[in-house]
Amino acid sequence: MDYALDRFTREVTAAIVATGRVPLDLVELTTPKAAIAADLAFPAFKAAKTLGLAPPQLAAELAATIQLPADGLIGAVEAVGPFLNFRLHAERLATHVLTNIMAQGDDYAAQQLGAGKTVVVDYSAPNIAKRMHVGHIRSTIIGQALVNIYRALGYRVIGDNHLGDWGKQFGVVLAAVEREGKPTAEGETALEQLEAQYARYVAAASDDPELDEHARHWSLRLEQGDSEARALWQWCVDLTMTAAQRNYDRLGVKIDHAYGESFYEPMLADMIQQALDAGVAFRDEGGAVVVEHLQKLPTFLLQRSDGGTLYMTRDMATVVFRLQEFQPHAIIYVVGEPQSLHLRQLFALIRAMGYAKDVGLTHVAFGTIFDAKGQPLSTRRGNMVYLEALLDDAVARARSVVEQKSPELPEAEKLAVAEAVGVGAVVYNDLYQDPKRNITLDWERMLATEGNSATYLQYSHARCSSILRRANEDGAGGPGGDLTLLIHPAEQRLLKQLARLPEVLREGAERYAPFVIADWCYATAREFGVFFEQCPVLKAESPALRGARLVLVAATANALRRGLGLLGIRAPERM
Ligand code: ARG
Repeated sequence: MDYALDRFTREVTAAIVATGRVPLDLVELTTPKAAIAADLAFPAFKAAKTLGLAPPQLAAELAATIQLPADGLIGAVEAVGPFLNFRLHAERLATHVLTNIMAQGDDYAAQQLGAGKTVVVDYSAPNIAKRMHVGHIRSTIIGQALVNIYRALGYRVIGDNHLGDWGKQFGVVLAAVEREGKPTAEGETALEQLEAQYARYVAAASDDPELDEHARHWSLRLEQGDSEARALWQWCVDLTMTAAQRNYDRLGVKIDHAYGESFYEPMLADMIQQALDAGVAFRDEGGAVVVEHLQKLPTFLLQRSDGGTLYMTRDMATVVFRLQEFQPHAIIYVVGEPQSLHLRQLFALIRAMGYAKDVGLTHVAFGTIFDAKGQPLSTRRGNMVYLEALLDDAVARARSVVEQKSPELPEAEKLAVAEAVGVGAVVYNDLYQDPKRNITLDWERMLATEGNSATYLQYSHARCSSILRRANEDGAGGPGGDLTLLIHPAEQRLLKQLARLPEVLREGAERYAPFVIADWCYATAREFGVFFEQCPVLKAESPALRGARLVLVAATANALRRGLGLLGIRAPERM
């Protein structure tokens, strides 16, 4: 799809090059500041220098000789000091942007940039027999947004849920279940019971060496593939994944694979040997396999002296497996900031072993979640939040917003809208700013109908839908008309904003930053607000203008829905 602003940029570049004065590699374009009446500028400094001219002189010369393509998107060109400023052709912009959006519908802004390239995204990664806590919540939400963004750019995206389903602690999990019986509840409550059983077992074992020994025995049985141990472990995995799936469904999360740490167990001996052979690791007197002096990183282990392997060992095998299985161009880890060192060590190790030469290994680190009082969530503080409960809480609060705003909706629709608004509030709160920053659970702000919140964006979308519904009902004509009539400044600003989504999508991917899309959604909703205030739609001066404005409204709804969809947020038709 040839998007309006991409085409505009191409036309500007070609027109400058066609003057014969500036070679292609010196054509660097910039976006002028908002106060300047131009859409793209060519700062003539560099080119002027190589030609031995003063920049304003070159700009003036170019302005005088440049040929604009007929029927193109360039409306005007003008030299302003050292800049050559280009303006979009208002009527053609309107036609081009709206035709793009209407033609593409839910795929608006999709591109082929990533065609033929594969990206693996490692996200969510809850631990078996435990509830998903803030780290997993953020990873799940940010990870899925990145998956959506890269897919829209044409990449083959492989999502992998690196479940924490292996390690010594599973001996305790199994022993505890054996001791107290399987929990009878389901979902997050069942997992909470498992966590409690685990804690009681650890407490009891602290003054009962027999219990300790018994847990170790279970751990050994599991590692050796004993069928009873394996079955009990599988039961824990299934229980956890069933609970996780409920949350995933609500969040619109779909992860292609869930190999999990256990999957790599059979590969670990070979991996350790490879690290030894490569001279990256050595075996110390105690028998442990150690990695030391790797790019000044702190020392770490690949194998304990008792032969046990570690999180790191499994992560190392995971990279190698992914390289072979998927031939990715990049692997993106969406993991909390506290694991930064772990991942730096992992990436350094992998590279020192000669793997992943042309493969990007990126850690998208995220901060923590604070409660409304500004305290970080923690189990010890007793203010911990778990995913299912968080979503339920959000939806219950959203329900009262719906009750207030649209008491007339039928009950089933109220439920659906509350779900979309509540879940949307949680998701947006995570995505509206840089992942590195901490986020705060401030319900007032999260569910506000004004300001930068999902609710406000959903509300703007619903407002568009409502205008279109009313247009349908009043019999005075639907979308259509003459799109070249959309030259009011507020219309033009909204059109340009809609036109930006394709480049915003690229920027979001480049920066691993869903917030770039969130910012776009917010700016779009605001521009729509201005347009709606200044330009009557249903009561437009002429039927042709009414039709054109309705197309603009429909395109705005479409584009907003798309932007929100990339973030994993639903946009109800009514609120
Ligand atoms: N399960 C881990 C945790 O809860 C996160 C795994 C992240 N991914 C990875 N490849 N290490 O801390």
